[in-house]
Amino acid sequence: MASFHHSYVFCISLIVVLFGSVSVQAAYSVPRAPIVYRPSPWTLAHATFYGDESASSTMGGACGYGNLVTNGYGTNTAALSSTIFRDGYACGQCYQIRCVQSPWCSRGIATVTATNLCPPNWSQDSNNGGWCNPPRTHFDMAKPAFMQIAQWKAGIVPVMYRRVPCVRKGGVRFSFQGNGYWLLVYVMNVGGAGDIRSMWVKGTKTAWISMSHNWGASYQAFATLRGQALSFRLTSYTTKQTITAYNVAPANWNLGLTYQANVNFH
Ligand SMILES: *[C@@H]1O[C@H](CO)[C@@H](O)[C@H](O)[C@H]1NC(C)=O
Repeated sequence: MASFHHSYVFCISLIVVLFGSVSVQAAYSVPRAPIVYRPSPWTLAHATFYGDESASSTMGGACGYGNLVTNGYGTNTAALSSTIFRDGYACGQCYQIRCVQSPWCSRGIATVTATNLCPPNWSQDSNNGGWCNPPRTHFDMAKPAFMQIAQWKAGIVPVMYRRVPCVRKGGVRFSFQGNGYWLLVYVMNVGGAGDIRSMWVKGTKTAWISMSHNWGASYQAFATLRGQALSFRLTSYTTKQTITAYNVAPANWNLGLTYQANVNFH
Protein backbone atom coordinates (compact mmCIF):
# COMPACT_ATOMS: atom_id res chain seq x y z
CA MET A 1 0.00 0.00 0.00
CA ALA A 2 2.83 2.29 0.98
CA SER A 3 4.78 1.70 -2.27
CA PHE A 4 1.64 2.23 -4.37
CA HIS A 5 1.13 5.52 -2.61
CA HIS A 6 4.73 6.52 -3.32
CA SER A 7 4.67 5.74 -7.03
CA TYR A 8 1.31 7.50 -7.26
CA VAL A 9 2.83 10.64 -5.76
CA PHE A 10 5.87 10.22 -8.05
CA CYS A 11 3.61 9.99 -11.12
CA ILE A 12 1.70 13.10 -10.12
CA SER A 13 4.86 15.10 -9.59
CA LEU A 14 6.28 13.84 -12.91
CA ILE A 15 3.13 15.05 -14.66
CA VAL A 16 3.39 18.38 -12.91
CA VAL A 17 7.04 18.73 -13.97
CA LEU A 18 6.26 17.74 -17.58
CA PHE A 19 3.26 20.03 -17.78
CA GLY A 20 5.18 22.81 -16.17
CA SER A 21 7.99 22.63 -18.72
CA VAL A 22 5.59 22.24 -21.63
CA SER A 23 3.59 25.33 -20.67
CA VAL A 24 6.76 27.36 -20.08
CA GLN A 25 8.09 26.33 -23.48
CA ALA A 26 4.77 27.12 -25.10
CA ALA A 27 4.80 30.59 -23.63
CA TYR A 28 8.14 31.31 -25.26
CA SER A 29 8.11 29.41 -28.54
CA VAL A 30 4.54 29.47 -29.83
CA PRO A 31 3.57 32.89 -31.22
CA ARG A 32 0.46 34.25 -29.57
CA ALA A 33 -2.68 34.41 -31.69
CA PRO A 34 -3.10 37.94 -33.04
CA ILE A 35 -5.45 40.07 -30.97
CA VAL A 36 -8.64 40.78 -32.89
CA TYR A 37 -11.15 43.28 -31.55
CA ARG A 38 -14.64 41.75 -31.24
CA PRO A 39 -17.92 43.69 -31.36
CA SER A 40 -19.51 44.70 -28.06
CA PRO A 41 -23.16 43.87 -27.20
CA TRP A 42 -25.92 46.14 -28.58
CA THR A 43 -26.89 48.91 -26.14
CA LEU A 44 -29.62 51.56 -26.14
CA ALA A 45 -28.79 55.24 -26.78
CA HIS A 46 -30.10 58.14 -28.87
CA ALA A 47 -28.97 59.87 -32.03
CA THR A 48 -29.40 63.24 -33.71
CA PHE A 49 -27.62 64.73 -36.71
CA TYR A 50 -25.62 67.84 -37.45
CA GLY A 51 -24.62 69.69 -40.59
CA ASP A 52 -26.06 69.06 -44.00
CA GLU A 53 -25.35 66.62 -46.80
CA SER A 54 -22.38 68.64 -48.04
CA ALA A 55 -18.76 68.29 -47.00
CA SER A 56 -18.95 71.27 -44.63
CA SER A 57 -19.60 69.00 -41.66
CA THR A 58 -16.57 66.91 -42.48
CA MET A 59 -14.00 69.50 -41.45
CA GLY A 60 -12.34 69.65 -38.08
CA GLY A 61 -13.74 68.15 -34.91
CA ALA A 62 -12.47 67.47 -31.42
CA CYS A 63 -10.30 64.55 -32.51
CA GLY A 64 -8.14 66.74 -34.74
CA TYR A 65 -8.52 64.64 -37.87
CA GLY A 66 -8.82 67.77 -40.03
CA ASN A 67 -10.47 67.10 -43.36
CA LEU A 68 -12.36 63.86 -42.79
CA VAL A 69 -12.72 63.11 -46.49
CA THR A 70 -9.06 63.41 -47.46
CA ASN A 71 -8.10 61.59 -44.25
CA GLY A 72 -10.27 58.62 -45.11
CA TYR A 73 -13.15 58.90 -42.63
CA GLY A 74 -15.67 60.32 -45.08
CA THR A 75 -19.14 61.32 -43.89
CA ASN A 76 -19.81 58.19 -41.84
CA THR A 77 -18.76 59.95 -38.67
CA ALA A 78 -20.30 60.97 -35.37
CA ALA A 79 -19.75 63.28 -32.42
CA LEU A 80 -19.94 61.42 -29.11
CA SER A 81 -21.35 62.75 -25.84
CA SER A 82 -18.61 63.24 -23.24
CA THR A 83 -19.73 60.11 -21.36
CA ILE A 84 -18.36 57.96 -24.19
CA PHE A 85 -15.88 60.46 -25.74
CA ARG A 86 -13.57 59.94 -22.75
CA ASP A 87 -11.48 63.09 -23.23
CA GLY A 88 -10.59 62.01 -26.75
CA TYR A 89 -9.49 58.46 -25.99
CA ALA A 90 -12.56 57.31 -27.95
CA CYS A 91 -11.35 59.08 -31.09
CA GLY A 92 -11.14 56.61 -33.96
CA GLN A 93 -13.47 54.03 -32.42
CA CYS A 94 -16.04 52.49 -34.75
CA TYR A 95 -19.72 52.03 -33.97
CA GLN A 96 -22.67 50.42 -35.67
CA ILE A 97 -25.90 52.32 -35.07
CA ARG A 98 -29.47 51.37 -35.96
CA CYS A 99 -32.68 53.22 -35.27
CA VAL A 100 -35.32 51.59 -33.01
CA GLN A 101 -38.79 52.37 -31.61
CA SER A 102 -39.55 55.28 -33.94
CA PRO A 103 -41.87 55.58 -36.96
CA TRP A 104 -39.03 57.45 -38.69
CA CYS A 105 -36.64 54.49 -38.55
CA SER A 106 -35.37 52.89 -41.72
CA ARG A 107 -33.81 49.46 -41.74
CA GLY A 108 -30.23 50.50 -42.37
CA ILE A 109 -27.29 50.14 -40.06
CA ALA A 110 -24.73 52.95 -40.17
CA THR A 111 -21.09 52.24 -39.37
CA VAL A 112 -19.44 55.41 -38.12
CA THR A 113 -16.09 56.54 -36.75
CA ALA A 114 -15.91 58.74 -33.65
CA THR A 115 -14.34 61.97 -34.91
CA ASN A 116 -15.81 64.65 -32.65
CA LEU A 117 -17.19 65.58 -29.23
CA CYS A 118 -20.83 66.52 -28.73
CA PRO A 119 -20.39 68.93 -25.80
CA PRO A 120 -22.91 69.24 -22.97
CA ASN A 121 -25.21 72.26 -22.98
CA TRP A 122 -26.37 72.77 -19.39
CA SER A 123 -28.76 75.57 -20.36
CA GLN A 124 -30.88 72.85 -21.93
CA ASP A 125 -32.60 70.07 -20.00
CA SER A 126 -30.95 66.67 -20.51
CA ASN A 127 -34.27 65.32 -21.75
CA ASN A 128 -35.19 68.32 -23.88
CA GLY A 129 -32.34 69.42 -26.13
CA GLY A 130 -29.39 68.75 -23.83
CA TRP A 131 -29.02 65.37 -25.47
CA CYS A 132 -25.27 65.24 -24.98
CA ASN A 133 -25.30 66.13 -21.28
CA PRO A 134 -23.77 63.45 -19.03
CA PRO A 135 -24.67 60.80 -18.19
CA ARG A 136 -26.47 60.42 -21.53
CA THR A 137 -24.93 58.24 -24.23
CA HIS A 138 -25.56 60.14 -27.43
CA PHE A 139 -24.43 60.14 -31.06
CA ASP A 140 -24.67 63.37 -33.01
CA MET A 141 -24.18 61.89 -36.47
CA ALA A 142 -23.11 63.59 -39.68
CA LYS A 143 -26.32 63.99 -41.65
CA PRO A 144 -25.46 61.47 -44.41
CA ALA A 145 -24.82 58.81 -41.74
CA PHE A 146 -28.07 59.63 -39.90
CA MET A 147 -30.01 59.34 -43.15
CA GLN A 148 -28.83 55.73 -43.43
CA ILE A 149 -30.85 54.83 -40.30
CA ALA A 150 -33.79 57.27 -40.14
CA GLN A 151 -35.57 60.14 -41.85
CA TRP A 152 -34.04 63.47 -40.91
CA LYS A 153 -37.50 64.81 -39.96
CA ALA A 154 -37.29 62.64 -36.82
CA GLY A 155 -34.73 65.00 -35.28
CA ILE A 156 -33.85 62.60 -32.48
CA VAL A 157 -34.37 58.83 -32.48
CA PRO A 158 -33.67 56.01 -30.04
CA VAL A 159 -30.91 53.76 -31.36
CA MET A 160 -29.16 50.54 -30.57
CA TYR A 161 -25.40 50.77 -30.95
CA ARG A 162 -22.35 48.56 -30.56
CA ARG A 163 -18.60 48.95 -30.91
CA VAL A 164 -17.23 47.11 -33.93
CA PRO A 165 -13.70 46.60 -35.26
CA CYS A 166 -12.49 49.40 -37.49
CA VAL A 167 -11.64 48.08 -40.94
CA ARG A 168 -8.81 50.23 -42.34
CA LYS A 169 -6.73 49.92 -45.48
CA GLY A 170 -3.00 49.83 -44.88
CA GLY A 171 -1.09 50.90 -41.80
CA VAL A 172 -1.56 53.51 -39.08
CA ARG A 173 -0.93 57.08 -40.29
CA PHE A 174 1.00 59.71 -38.34
CA SER A 175 0.44 63.37 -39.14
CA PHE A 176 3.21 65.66 -37.82
CA GLN A 177 2.78 69.11 -36.27
CA GLY A 178 4.77 71.08 -33.72
CA ASN A 179 8.18 72.73 -33.96
CA GLY A 180 11.87 71.88 -33.64
CA TYR A 181 11.56 70.97 -29.95
CA TRP A 182 8.03 69.66 -29.83
CA LEU A 183 6.58 66.89 -31.96
CA LEU A 184 2.77 66.72 -32.01
CA VAL A 185 1.48 63.64 -33.81
CA TYR A 186 -2.10 63.00 -34.93
CA VAL A 187 -2.73 59.26 -35.16
CA MET A 188 -5.14 58.23 -37.89
CA ASN A 189 -6.38 55.20 -39.81
CA VAL A 190 -6.17 52.98 -36.71
CA GLY A 191 -7.68 49.53 -37.25
CA GLY A 192 -9.16 47.05 -34.73
CA ALA A 193 -10.49 48.85 -31.65
CA GLY A 194 -9.44 52.08 -33.41
CA ASP A 195 -8.30 53.88 -30.26
CA ILE A 196 -4.93 54.70 -28.66
CA ARG A 197 -4.05 54.74 -24.96
CA SER A 198 -0.32 55.43 -25.04
CA MET A 199 2.39 56.09 -27.53
CA TRP A 200 6.16 56.29 -27.74
CA VAL A 201 8.55 57.69 -30.33
CA LYS A 202 12.13 56.63 -31.01
CA GLY A 203 14.68 58.41 -33.12
CA THR A 204 17.68 56.56 -34.50
CA LYS A 205 19.79 58.30 -31.83
CA THR A 206 17.35 58.17 -28.91
CA ALA A 207 15.78 55.61 -26.62
CA TRP A 208 12.00 55.15 -26.64
CA ILE A 209 10.44 58.44 -25.51
CA SER A 210 6.99 58.33 -23.89
CA MET A 211 4.53 60.71 -25.55
CA SER A 212 1.75 62.42 -23.59
CA HIS A 213 -1.85 62.82 -24.72
CA ASN A 214 -2.46 66.36 -25.98
CA TRP A 215 -6.05 66.50 -27.27
CA GLY A 216 -8.29 64.32 -29.43
CA ALA A 217 -6.16 61.79 -31.25
CA SER A 218 -2.87 63.66 -30.80
CA TYR A 219 0.19 62.80 -28.75
CA GLN A 220 3.30 64.86 -28.07
CA ALA A 221 6.97 64.53 -27.25
CA PHE A 222 9.16 67.42 -26.11
CA ALA A 223 12.34 66.34 -27.82
CA THR A 224 14.69 67.29 -30.63
CA LEU A 225 14.21 64.59 -33.23
CA ARG A 226 15.15 66.38 -36.45
CA GLY A 227 17.35 64.46 -38.85
CA GLN A 228 16.50 61.09 -37.35
CA ALA A 229 14.29 58.37 -38.78
CA LEU A 230 11.35 57.90 -36.40
CA SER A 231 9.69 54.74 -35.10
CA PHE A 232 6.47 54.64 -33.09
CA ARG A 233 5.05 52.25 -30.51
CA LEU A 234 1.30 52.31 -29.84
CA THR A 235 -0.90 50.71 -27.19
CA SER A 236 -4.61 50.28 -27.88
CA TYR A 237 -6.95 51.95 -25.38
CA THR A 238 -9.43 49.07 -25.45
CA THR A 239 -7.41 45.91 -26.04
CA LYS A 240 -4.11 47.07 -24.43
CA GLN A 241 -2.30 45.45 -27.36
CA THR A 242 0.99 47.12 -28.31
CA ILE A 243 2.40 47.33 -31.83
CA THR A 244 5.63 48.85 -33.07
CA ALA A 245 6.00 50.66 -36.37
CA TYR A 246 9.68 50.89 -37.26
CA ASN A 247 11.15 53.72 -39.34
CA VAL A 248 7.79 55.22 -40.23
CA ALA A 249 9.31 58.60 -41.06
CA PRO A 250 12.66 58.90 -42.87
CA ALA A 251 15.48 61.06 -41.44
CA ASN A 252 14.38 64.02 -43.60
CA TRP A 253 10.82 64.06 -42.20
CA ASN A 254 8.97 67.35 -42.06
CA LEU A 255 6.23 68.99 -40.02
CA GLY A 256 2.92 69.22 -41.88
CA LEU A 257 3.42 65.85 -43.54
CA THR A 258 1.75 62.50 -42.88
CA TYR A 259 3.65 59.21 -42.75
CA GLN A 260 2.12 55.75 -42.99
CA ALA A 261 3.32 52.65 -41.17
CA ASN A 262 3.06 49.16 -42.62
CA VAL A 263 1.48 47.77 -39.41
CA ASN A 264 -1.95 48.22 -37.87
CA PHE A 265 -4.31 46.82 -35.25
CA HIS A 266 -7.03 44.35 -36.34
C1 LIG B 1 -27.27 75.94 -25.50
O1 LIG B 1 -28.65 76.01 -25.41
C2 LIG B 1 -29.18 77.33 -25.47
C3 LIG B 1 -30.67 77.27 -25.19
O2 LIG B 1 -31.32 76.47 -26.16
C4 LIG B 1 -28.85 77.95 -26.82
O3 LIG B 1 -29.33 79.26 -26.91
C5 LIG B 1 -27.33 77.94 -27.02
O4 LIG B 1 -27.02 78.37 -28.31
C6 LIG B 1 -26.78 76.55 -26.80
N1 LIG B 1 -25.31 76.60 -26.80
C7 LIG B 1 -24.58 75.95 -27.67
C8 LIG B 1 -23.13 76.11 -27.52
O5 LIG B 1 -25.07 75.23 -28.54
